[in-house]
Amino acid sequence: MAVPLIFNTIEQTALSSWLRESTSVFGFYFILLFHTIGMSLVVGASAVVDLRILGVAPALPLKPLKRLFTIMWVGLAINVTSGLFLLTAYPTKALTNPDFYIKMTFIGLAVFTMRKLSIQVFGDKSLDEMAMIARGKTMAAWSLVFWVGAVSAGRLLSETSKYVLYGHLWGS
Ligand code: HEM
Repeated sequence: MAVPLIFNTIEQTALSSWLRESTSVFGFYFILLFHTIGMSLVVGASAVVDLRILGVAPALPLKPLKRLFTIMWVGLAINVTSGLFLLTAYPTKALTNPDFYIKMTFIGLAVFTMRKLSIQVFGDKSLDEMAMIARGKTMAAWSLVFWVGAVSAGRLLSETSKYVLYGHLWGS
């Protein structure tokens, strides 16, 4: 596989080397911790809304859950920021791994569905709870599928990567 030279250029930068090699607590694993916190906010809040629409905890009023969308966007912002730092640390490792593109596809589909739910279900004030559930059911089910896909593909990234750094091959 021809690995683009730009990956090597990024890996040679002070920031990339620091993220990979620093013994500081604020290095790579601190970023990964933030990545996990961001994920728990966006995926956790989405799951609460999706499961409520799909009939779990029917006694829980649905309309006030609209506030959870703010938590989802904050979680996503944390994961895009921390994700870009993780990518800067190991661009070859992530960008030569097909699993990374599978993960980004799931994230794109999940965010698209999250936006549709917030506009078409929670954004339409004329809908009562029954109508919100009827309109949101399919979107809620797909949202769960896409987030489970994103988290699974994310978790498998470090297990499925073939290169660690530019020119290095795992275990050869
Ligand atoms: C909300 C969306 C996201 C979710 C749910 C998610 C989920 C995950 C998970 C579960 C891991 C594995 C963590 C571990 O090994 O402990 C991971 C790692 C990673 N994520 Fe994300 N992620 C998201 C967004 C992003 C974005 C936007 C990027 C890039 C721009 C990104 C880049 C990475 C990278 C490079 C790693 C690998 C870290 C390593 O080398 O071990 N992620 N992500």
